[in-house]
Formats: sequence, structure tokens, C-alpha cells
Amino acid sequence: MAEQVIKLSVNGSVREISGDPRQLLVDVIRDDLDLKATHIGCLSGDCGACSVMVDGEVRKSCLSLAVSMEGADVRTLDGWVDETLLRLQTAFIATNAFQCGFCTSGMLMAATDLLRRNPRPDVSEIRKAISGNLCRCTGYEPIIQAIQQAIQK
Ligand code: FES
Ligand code: FES
Repeated sequence: MAEQVIKLSVNGSVREISGDPRQLLVDVIRDDLDLKATHIGCLSGDCGACSVMVDGEVRKSCLSLAVSMEGADVRTLDGWVDETLLRLQTAFIATNAFQCGFCTSGMLMAATDLLRRNPRPDVSEIRKAISGNLCRCTGYEPIIQAIQQAIQK
């Protein structure tokens, strides 16, 4: 199959990528761009480990073809400086909201998306926002506490 070239912004830098048009965004992020904070779990949209921000909204990068990202603004945990994300990272550390850390990048993306859309979510809104992200370690309560802690007073 003919290679396709796309140009997109990743964490604020313009990147040009050429490859198989069937390539998934998550594979481009991890393999072509060597950005490993975005994880691969299920590859079927169920676990949320691959979540990134695309044009300001959270997206599961295993469900997107890289070619559909032409001109997009993609943000991952690697090198993205964002005030909401930083507040969340600080709160995740304070509440021990991770153990193995496999889900953490995706959780932070989902939580950042939530707090940008809804700066003062209640617990049910937090649970709904992270319902597409699986965590095998924490039982979710410390993650919910971290998101609550990151809400600006
Ligand atoms: S790897 Fe994308 S949702 Fe699980
Ligand atoms: S901290 Fe291990 S899967 Fe969430």
C-alpha cells in the first residue's frame, strides 16, 4: 500500500509522518514519535490506556487512524505543559492515585478533559468521565479523590 504523509502538531511541535495509511494514531505516537507515556492495553477502545487529547478533547488513540489527524493538535503526557494537567498530576501524587501506573496517563487525559469542560464536577460526573478508563490496581477511589483535590477552590 502506498505511503501517506501527514503533518500534525504533537505537544506543540509540528511533526511530519509518512507511513501505511492503516497505521493507528497510538502506533505513530509510540513507535514513530517514540512517545511512550501513551500506553496500549486492549486496542479495542475499552481500557482508555491510550487516551490522548486531540484538538482539545480526549480521544482513544487506538480507535483513530493516524491519517485522520492531518492538521490536528495532539497532546500526550510527554512534554505537554498544561496548568490543569499539572494540578491533576500533583493531586495524583498526593492521594497515591496510582500503583503500577499503566492507566495513569489515560486517567490524567480523561480528568484533564473533564476539568476543562466542567471545572467543578461532582462525584458522579467524575465517575462518568473516567468510566472509559480501567484501573486494575487502585479501586478507583484514590483517583476520584485526586480529581476532587485538583478542583480549584
Ligand atoms: S488501548 Fe485504546 S482503549 Fe485500550
Ligand atoms: S495503577 Fe495500575 S492499572 Fe491503574
